[in-house]
Amino acid sequence: MLVKSAVPIRRFDTLVIGAGGGGLRAALQLSQAEATVAVVSKVFPTRSHTVAAQGGVNAALGNVTPDNWHWHMYDTVKGSDFLGDQDAIEYMCRAASRLVVELEHAGVPFSRLDNGKIYQRAFGGQSQNFGGDQASRTCAAADRTGHAILHSLYQQNIRAKTHFFDEYYAIDLIKDAEGAILGAVVLEIETGEPLIIEAKTTLLATGGVGRLFRNNTNARINTGDGMGMVLRAGIPIEDMEFFQFHPTGIAGKGMLITEGARGEGGYLLNKDGERFMERYAPHAKDLASRDVVSRAIATEVREGRGCGPEGDYVLLKVDHLGEEVVNKRLPGIRDMVKTFLHIDPSKQPIPVFPTAHYTMGGIPTNRFGEVVQSGADGGEEPVPGLYAVGECACVSVHGANRLGGNSLLDIVVFGRAAGNRIIEYLRDHRYHRHMSWPGVDGALARLARWDQRGEGESVAQLRNELQKAMEHYCGVFRTEDVLREGLEKVKEIERRLADARLRDHSKVFNTARIEAFELENLVDAGLATVTAALARQESRGAHSRIDYPERDDQNWMKHSLYYKEGGRLTYKPVRTQPLTVEPFPPKPRVY
Ligand code: FUM
Repeated sequence: MLVKSAVPIRRFDTLVIGAGGGGLRAALQLSQAEATVAVVSKVFPTRSHTVAAQGGVNAALGNVTPDNWHWHMYDTVKGSDFLGDQDAIEYMCRAASRLVVELEHAGVPFSRLDNGKIYQRAFGGQSQNFGGDQASRTCAAADRTGHAILHSLYQQNIRAKTHFFDEYYAIDLIKDAEGAILGAVVLEIETGEPLIIEAKTTLLATGGVGRLFRNNTNARINTGDGMGMVLRAGIPIEDMEFFQFHPTGIAGKGMLITEGARGEGGYLLNKDGERFMERYAPHAKDLASRDVVSRAIATEVREGRGCGPEGDYVLLKVDHLGEEVVNKRLPGIRDMVKTFLHIDPSKQPIPVFPTAHYTMGGIPTNRFGEVVQSGADGGEEPVPGLYAVGECACVSVHGANRLGGNSLLDIVVFGRAAGNRIIEYLRDHRYHRHMSWPGVDGALARLARWDQRGEGESVAQLRNELQKAMEHYCGVFRTEDVLREGLEKVKEIERRLADARLRDHSKVFNTARIEAFELENLVDAGLATVTAALARQESRGAHSRIDYPERDDQNWMKHSLYYKEGGRLTYKPVRTQPLTVEPFPPKPRVY
């Protein structure tokens, strides 16, 4: 058993956990302000999941179609199925153009129009003039936009002297008796040794939890680690029932085929060669928002109009665009389809099916990136010293359904906002608080738990069962009976996990131990997702209940909050008042 006084300690102004775009944008802001910043990442930073974002980042630059931030705001509120918080949405859409230009100046090699301006493509749910003609708002670097952004942000951080702890895994937050967060206990993966990182402020930027589902677009690292950490610290997580299924994953495998493929003019076909989206979304067709397109594909397959020997996918046709467009605008897709399906998308259509993609819910924050929880007066109060941004956070700008291209935007806008708010906090809090040793104990006990010897089930077996259960019981379409069964199944996996054992207890680069910690986080996020989905008796955005097919604003226009203790749910109101403009009141959502 480890003696905690023997665990080394490092001290920084700010600890950032996660080195995707949100974490790196915040770290850059802080390092440039001369704060001491530690970024802990379980992978080398440029392997973070932002690298996989394909289609682009939204900003109303108006380079291709007339545009302004207010139209972008309208589309985002409508896309969220009126669950998004309108103050945060206004803030994000107003900041977008400035931050995209800032990225350009930081070195992001955006694709260009003939006039030299940044190239913008059409994406789902984008309109001109509050629901009119299709807009082209997504700024793209071919179909590797996240890759370009992540590399530029990493290089800028190196220049700004951000301190990186590469291949360290954050086990748990350290919380003191007053509820302040003092940093985290982390594990150096190479040596298997723990380290305490003491920090005046801690920012979680750990990404989403797409690995909850068997078929997904997510990196193996997306296991909801930040969500698990806050749940164990007694803080709830918000709106977890809203999980986005991207319409076009490679059938049977799950990898992402960017919405940019449809933005460039691609379209979907069923087995009869019908452009079926014309029936589901007569105006926007294949560029309706993601929840609408995913449900349409699932319905086509369910009603027997799927393609292939098993009738279990539809076709995405881009071959009519020609080799030149595919090579120039969709080179990553071309390579991926050739590698995984052995076909050339400029010659043959691509088999696709919805795939788990994005966690709309997460750690509750305000638009300054502060983690918030209910205060004594029924309002919201920041948790001292704790911040969250990006997919692990719920601001909530995406509400019940995120628009494509808004996630790269979210990470840079709120990464910067959190950085600024932390700088203010550091000005007023010049000294570290006293270390809370009881706060360290929990993390060390979790580490010791996986050293237990003896017989027990394997982590891999339980993870596979969890992923299958989530896909089966909590997928695109949901009903009470199926969700109830799903909840029992996930609870049973949680019980069995308590008796699971590692076969390999070595210390050096023991990834099995990391996967065990990750599974604990996945199970917590799975319980939150199914519990909140079972409770929400309406259909809104990505949460589609066959037994409650209508949106119910009267009873359910509210955010859910799930607590680990007792699997309890509470709710809080949607923030319907924007900062400077009139609110967009709920109305039927048609595309
Ligand atoms: O389809 C895509 O390129 C994904 C973009 C996004 O999720 O924002």
